[in-house]
Amino acid sequence: MSTTLPAISAQLAEAVAVVRDRSDLVPALGIVAGSGLGAIGELVQDAVAIPYGDIPHMYAPTVVGHAGKLLLGTLEGLPVAILSGRVHAYEGHAMSDVVFGVRMLARLGAPRVLLTNAAGGVQPWLSPGSLCRIVDHINLSGKNPLIGPNPSDLGPRFPDMSTGYDPEFGGAISRAAASAGVPLYSGVYAAMSGPSYETPAEIRMLRVIGASLVGMSTVQECIALNHMGVKVGGISVVSNFAAGVSTAPLDHSEVAEVANEAGPRLLSVIRTLARQLAEAEA
Ligand code: HPA
Repeated sequence: MSTTLPAISAQLAEAVAVVRDRSDLVPALGIVAGSGLGAIGELVQDAVAIPYGDIPHMYAPTVVGHAGKLLLGTLEGLPVAILSGRVHAYEGHAMSDVVFGVRMLARLGAPRVLLTNAAGGVQPWLSPGSLCRIVDHINLSGKNPLIGPNPSDLGPRFPDMSTGYDPEFGGAISRAAASAGVPLYSGVYAAMSGPSYETPAEIRMLRVIGASLVGMSTVQECIALNHMGVKVGGISVVSNFAAGVSTAPLDHSEVAEVANEAGPRLLSVIRTLARQLAEAEA
C-alpha cells in the first residue's frame, strides 16, 4: 500500500481485506438497516455475518436497538451487503467513522445503497408507523463528512447533490412498495444533530422550510455515498409525531417499539425491491 494514499483509503483497504477473507460476494445492493430492521438478517440466504468488532476501523453502535454486524448474502436472488446497525455523530464519533461503513459498502462494489432509519413525522399526515421514501434532505446537523482534505481517489472536492436520492432508484423503491401492497409516502428528511429531540419551535421551522421527516442520521451517509458515485435511496419509518405535532412527550423506547412494529412492512418493501432488481438484472 502506497503511503501517499490518504489515510481513509488505506483504512478502507484494510477493512475490505478482512471482509474478503470471509466472502467474495459483490453486492448489487447495499442496505443500512436502522432501527426496526434487525430481522432482515433472518431473510438473507447463505449469509456471512461479520461483527463490526472484527472489521478494522468499524465501530459498534452504543444505542439500544442497533446491532453491529455486516451481513453478506442473497436476498430474493440479489447479492446484498447489509450494515445491521450504524453509529451516529451524537455518540461522539468523528464524521469519518460515521460514514466508514457506507464507504466500505461502496468499496465492496455496491452500485446503490438503501439507507433506512426511524424518523419523527414533521407533517401531521405522517403518523407513527407510516413509511416514507426520502426524496431529498436538508442537512441541519452542522456536520458534513467531506470537511477536511479531500480524499480525491474517493471522489471530487465539490460533489453534486442535485440527485442525492437517485430518482430512478427512488422510482424502483416506490414500485416495489406498490407491488408489495405497502403504502409509502414521499418526503424531505431534515437532519438535526441530536441527541436531544427537537423543540416544538424547531419542528415548526422545519415544516416551514419544507421538511416532512426529522432524524439524526442518514444525511452524512448520503453525502459520502454521492461523493463516491454510489446511487442512494432512503426510507424512513415514522416512529413518532415530531415534537409539538402531538402533545405526547418523546421517549426513545416508544420510538424503538413503533419502528419494530413497522419493521415487517419495511422488510416486505425491501424484499420486493430486491426481487425486482434481481429480475431486472437477470
Ligand atoms: N426527532 C429526531 N430524530 C428522531 C425522531 C424525532 O422525532 N424520531 C426518531 N428519530
